Formats: sequence, structure tokens, C-alpha cells
Amino acid sequence: MTSRVALGIDIGGSGIKGAPVDLDRGVLLAERVKIATPVESTPHAVAAIVGEIAAQFTDTLPADAPIGVTIPGVVQHGVVRSAANIDKAWLDCPGEALFSATLGRRCLLVNDADAAGVAELRHGAAKDKSGLVIVTTLGTGIGIALLHNGVLIPNAELGHLEIDGHDAETRAAASARERESLSWTKWAARLQRYYSHLENLLWPDLFVVGGGVSRKADKFLPLLSLRTPIVPAELQNAAGIIGAAALAAD
Ligand code: BGC
Repeated sequence: MTSRVALGIDIGGSGIKGAPVDLDRGVLLAERVKIATPVESTPHAVAAIVGEIAAQFTDTLPADAPIGVTIPGVVQHGVVRSAANIDKAWLDCPGEALFSATLGRRCLLVNDADAAGVAELRHGAAKDKSGLVIVTTLGTGIGIALLHNGVLIPNAELGHLEIDGHDAETRAAASARERESLSWTKWAARLQRYYSHLENLLWPDLFVVGGGVSRKADKFLPLLSLRTPIVPAELQNAAGIIGAAALAAD
């Protein structure tokens, strides 16, 4: 049996990464291509890079392979509706149509955390978990994917919950730890506040923690005391790519 293949492209604060994905196994079929996100990450500058990445795989991918692209903002009907950590020119930008025009074929645009959540659901730490699973990505911002009995409820922007008068992600994202040179203990105290608040509001069955920092989960997850089980994501920096590809193929 030949495997189903799609291209996933993940737009992040520092890099734009893409690779072909084996949808049945949830693995990358080639090494990721990564190009630095332009300093002025306007829609057209980013689209040019998305085109460059896709072009590197045109020879190896079937001509009709689906393409999924992530963006760190709310996406409704192909239009970007929020831009907390990206150029404000993205607001109300019809990103899906822009990328489809750049690539010369239809592609799907999806929120980055939703893509990571779907990847963890199908191939990682949220697989076969019933009830409410909250996948959180800790990076420049805090991304959230709500998964209820395997169904994604998209665009949950709970990284922006107001806690103690602050937008939560400005205090508890991985970028806050780096910016303020916080020790793991100090940062964990902020995560404790954030995850306790989330669990009191939503009563999830499981938290999955993704983002680059989840590679060092042993430094901070054991410091948290929650009623909800909390585990590191399994797909790490491939999750956005795998989830975007999977959703594009649905
Ligand atoms: C954005 C979300 C995004 C998250 C992770 C937040 O600032 O509002 O849409 O998923 O960052 O990139």
C-alpha cells in the first residue's frame, strides 16, 4: 500500500519550516527545510518564503499532494483574525488565498497550536485520549488546542487569558523565561498559576505541553502541582508541520 503524503509548512516567530509528511505514520519523509522568518514578517514576505520551501519539494511530491500552512494567529475561513506575535499587516489578511495564489494550488491555512494539537491527537501524546485534552504550546506566545473526544475546537485563544492583570502569555510563555532570564523554579511558579487557572475553568482530563521548551520538560513539569495529568508533547518541533499536513488532507 502506498502511503498518503502531504506537505506541511509551519510559520513561527524565528523560522518557517516545511517538509513532506507521511500521513499514515505521522512522520516527516525528508529533512525539514528551515528559512529564517523575515524581520518584517508581512504577508507578502512570508508568502515568498512559503513558496521557496514548497518549491524544494515539488520534484518529490505528487502534483496533487495537499498543502497545509500554519500561522500564529486566529484563522477563520482562511482569513487571519489576530496577530499578537506577527506583523500587524496580517490582521484580516486572506492568508489562505494568498498562499494558494503563491503556490499555484489550493492550500489550507490553520492556527499553529491547532495544527500541533491535531498532530499530537493523531500520532502523539493525545492519541486515544477521551474527554477534554488541552494541548498548550509554550514558545513566543502560548498556543492552545482544545480537543474533545478527538474533535478539535479551533481558535481557542486561552494563551491570552488575563491573569493577575496580565495577558498570560507575556508572563508564562517560554519567551518570558528567556527575556527575563528566569530560573526554572521561577518560571514554573508562573506556569503553576497559568495551568491552575486553566484547569479551574475547563476541568480538562489531560494537559499536553509542546513547544521547543518541552524538550526540557523534566526541568519544569515535576515542579507543577495540578489535579490534571500533564505530559510533554511527543512530536516536538515537527508537530506543526505534521498537523498542518494532516488537516490539509482531511
Ligand atoms: C496567538 C495564537 C498562537 C500562539 C502560539 C498567540 O499569541 O494569539 O494564535 O497560536 O500565540 O503561537
